[in-house]
Order: sequence, then structure tokens, then C-alpha cells
Amino acid sequence: MTILITGGTGKTGLKLAHLLSKAGHAVVLTSRKGEVPQPFKGVKFDWLEPSTFTNPFDADPAIDRVYVVGPIGVLDTLPHVKPFIDLAVTKGVKRFVVLSGSPVGKGGPVAGKVHEYLEEIGVDYAVLRPTWFMENFSTVFVAPIRAHNQIVSVAKDGRLAFVAVDDIAKAASDALLDEKSWNSDRFIVGPELFSYDEVAALLSEVLGREIKYKRLTEDESRLILTSVGLDAEYASFLAKAEARIADGSEVAVFESDNKIVGKKHLKEFFETNRETWVI
Ligand SMILES: NC(=O)c1ccc[n+]([C@@H]2O[C@H](COP(=O)([O-])OP(=O)(O)OC[C@H]3O[C@@H](n4cnc5c(N)ncnc54)[C@H](OP(=O)(O)O)[C@@H]3O)[C@@H](O)[C@H]2O)c1
Repeated sequence: MTILITGGTGKTGLKLAHLLSKAGHAVVLTSRKGEVPQPFKGVKFDWLEPSTFTNPFDADPAIDRVYVVGPIGVLDTLPHVKPFIDLAVTKGVKRFVVLSGSPVGKGGPVAGKVHEYLEEIGVDYAVLRPTWFMENFSTVFVAPIRAHNQIVSVAKDGRLAFVAVDDIAKAASDALLDEKSWNSDRFIVGPELFSYDEVAALLSEVLGREIKYKRLTEDESRLILTSVGLDAEYASFLAKAEARIADGSEVAVFESDNKIVGKKHLKEFFETNRETWVI
């Protein structure tokens, strides 16, 4: 058995590669340049370039399970992902584990139609629906925290249970390796709910300087997202999904029975990565 990890250089993909290889499984990682971190085997692969779809199977014909991180910033990934799924099935792939998100149900945007398609064709699959990543604070949120001591969001007083990438990778590993395929979706959340005011207070405590939460309107959020290069429709989808947190969407996810609760606490994440926000 070899497991193909698409998005192999990404946040969840690389953590998953380490987990699986530590457990003795063969993995192949994809990246658009074909370069992946040592000690892994990498292949050139681009969802927007179907001529690259056979590369993984040429590199390792034993691939039979695939972790799917679809193209980033695409509102409907099915047109890009479906031809690869169809090819992979003919090459002997028996199980797909798809990274989606808590706001995206079966048939919805981004990976929602991929979920629907996998169910339709009757292949073994799992869909991971993590909530917002803790790692956003060390990526997209870094600039406003360092420059203005601000965390920005449209979530108002809504609460959500930020989840660590380590915990998502663990869920992905289980979904790939469990003897019985899940053939369903599962939410993945962190252990505690936070409002952004509470996040700002926690980060202030860890850093020893005051970080404030700035409430954005949906229009302001869309503008920021398009200014960093996201397409207008995708930016609109993200801003709306975040705005729904104010109406309790992520509290409902946290209270759902269909969830995996990660181990890492936000405080531990802030303490471990403290240097990221020190100015
Ligand atoms: N951030 C959150 O809070 C959150 C919450 C829930 C769900 N998600 C979902 O998590 C997924 C990953 O997002 P992320 O921001 O954490 O990204 P990431 O996994 O850290 O990075 C994206 C990965 O995809 C690869 N990639 C990008 N465009 C590609 C293309 N056209 N073809 C093939 N590979 C491509 C990149 O590899 P190369 O650059 O090496 O090619 C990279 O490995 C997204 O689908 C997002 O919707 C995110």
C-alpha cells in the first residue's frame, strides 16, 4: 500500500506525511514544482494541469489511497478533481480522504461536490470538515497582529473551536488507515470554544502586550481577501462563512455528535509559537 498525499507541501499534507511514514507506510507527496521536503518522495502535480495526473502512478504504481487537498481558492473544485478521481480509480485507488471544511456540506461549494461525487460512484471515502485552523494566527493573521496589535474578523461575538493542523493530520491518518472506511464526513474541532475577543485576551496574556479584536463588516472582509489575490466569488464565500459564526454556526458544529475533538489547546499553540507575534 502506498498513500498519495496531494498538497504534500501544505499545512496538513506535510504533517500527515510524517505521521504515516513514522507508522511505516509508504507515501508519495505532490507539489506543483515537484519539490517536497526531505526525506519524502515528491512528484510534480497540478490540479489545473491534467497532463500531470499520471505522474504519481508512474512514480509508484502501488498507490491505492489518496489524501485530496483540492486546488486552493477555487469555488467549485469538482471539475478539476473529478478527472483525477476517475483516473485514480482505474489505477487501483481504493479510498479517497478529502480535506473540506466545517461550513461546507455535501453538494456545497469548494469540496462539497467532490464529497457528493465520491458517494455517487460508491468508492470508499472520508470527508474531513475541520473548523478554522489555529495556524491562521501564524499565517493570514500575522500582519495585523504585528503591525497594529489587531485580530480582524467578521465573526462578531460568535464562538468557534479553533483546531490545530496536528489534530487534522491525525484525523486524516485515521481516515486513511482505519480498517473500515468511514464513507461519511466528520467535523474536526479543537477542545474549546472562543470568541475573537477571548482569543485577543489570550494572545495578549501570552505576549504581554494588548491585542485587540477589530470587527470587520462583510464588505471590508471581502476587500481584504481580494486584495491578497483571492477571486471575488471565493472571497465572498469565505466572508459569508465567517459571518455565519456570529449566528452560532460553529457552536452548532462543536455541539454536533458527528465530530472529532482535537487535543491541542489554543493557549499551547500561542505559547509554542510566541516568537511569531513578538515585535
Ligand atoms: N485555513 C483554515 O482555517 C481552513 C479551515 C477549513 C478548511 N480549510 C481548507 O484547507 C485546505 C488547505 O488550505 P491551506 O491554506 O491550509 O493550504 P495548504 O494545505 O497549507 O497549502 C496548499 C497546498 O496545496 C498545493 N496546491 C496549491 N495549488 C495547487 C494546485 N493548483 N495543484 C496542486 N496543488 C496545489 C500547495 O502545494 P505547492 O504550492 O507545492 O504546489 C500546498 O501543498 C483548503 O482547501 C481550505 O479550504 C482551511
